[in-house]
Amino acid sequence: MKQIQFFDTTLRDGEQTIGVNFSIEDKIRIAKQLVNWGVDVIEAGFPVASKNDFKSVRKIGQEITGCKVTGLARCVKKDIDAVSAALGDTPNGQIHVFIATSPIHREAKLHMTKDEVIETIENCVSYAHQKFEHVEFSPEDATRTEWNFLVKAIRTAIFAGADVINIPDTTGYTNPEEISELFDYLKDNIPEFDEVVFSIHCHNDLGMATANALAAIQHGATRVEGTINGIGERAGNTALEEIATTLMVRKDFYQVETNICLTKTFEIAKMVSQKSKMQIPNNKPITGTNAFSHESGIHQDGFLKNHATYEILTPQSVGVAHSSIPLGKLSGSHAVIVKLEEMGYKIDKETTKDIFIKFKAIADNQPIVSDDDLVQIMNEIQGVASKK
Ligand code: KIV
Ligand code: ZN
Repeated sequence: MKQIQFFDTTLRDGEQTIGVNFSIEDKIRIAKQLVNWGVDVIEAGFPVASKNDFKSVRKIGQEITGCKVTGLARCVKKDIDAVSAALGDTPNGQIHVFIATSPIHREAKLHMTKDEVIETIENCVSYAHQKFEHVEFSPEDATRTEWNFLVKAIRTAIFAGADVINIPDTTGYTNPEEISELFDYLKDNIPEFDEVVFSIHCHNDLGMATANALAAIQHGATRVEGTINGIGERAGNTALEEIATTLMVRKDFYQVETNICLTKTFEIAKMVSQKSKMQIPNNKPITGTNAFSHESGIHQDGFLKNHATYEILTPQSVGVAHSSIPLGKLSGSHAVIVKLEEMGYKIDKETTKDIFIKFKAIADNQPIVSDDDLVQIMNEIQGVASKK
């Protein structure tokens, strides 16, 4: 089965989230946990960006074993030198160089012609390759680049020594159909396609980062880049926990393997949430508090009869302790009675109706019926029963 590599950029692209600034100690803790989770590559930072970025990339490169560690560089000599100074002497060190290739970036940002961009790629990738055995090259804003020019840029990077080509959807502009067509086009027009690793790097501006990354995997990408909890620039990056879980739950469809230890997913998500001071939204797939909660009576009844009616994976498979059945105004009597029995009450058929009437009266006026509310209902019912 095809193997998909996980490239985590929580510490680089993830740290580009407004308001997120990990300390070096936290970066080391997150990196260690990422290794436990099973990622293949950690992008530890952008060494030229600041003294602390340099220090943390160097420290992660020195301390982390069990996966590759890479640092980001623009196609600029001093950036490549900074990555080389941080990681060049570490056994797991790699480099990731990028330059924008799309017309808007060439014209408005770089002020470069197509030929100048190609020449820069050639020079900088071969310079990076003198310093590192493994070089990843990214044509930034690839999905808004003319496809024939993208092929030229990628082949230039491959001939200059890049062995990983990353396709960034820098602005979250593309969609699954388009990314599939793009990968098919690259396969058909790059004779060296199978000799290098093709990677996919998506942003979530239109909410399609996970879907786009999965489409690329179906169409030839063997590496996926993203962050934990999907943190990152603007609307964020592909949430790697969503990719890992989808590839497991839908192995029948994707037919690929990964090194991810899925049962450690919740642990890494919680850690990144705490260190980034960004709460995981309640309705976030897989790790949100509602992801394994069942609210309505119909769902609760089905779930209690067979969990698979409303759960496509067990909470334990991603490291969440258990599912929950919060009681509210939409709950049915089945869930209420099961809860009361769990609390130690013995309920007979006759009292069920009275309990449920009292339950509904409370539930109609508040979001959740608590255990204390249930105890109060039972005290009233049992008080009535004992007076009879
Ligand atoms: O989104 C992007 O284009 C990037 C590159 C540096 C790979 O993060
Ligand atoms: Zn990015």
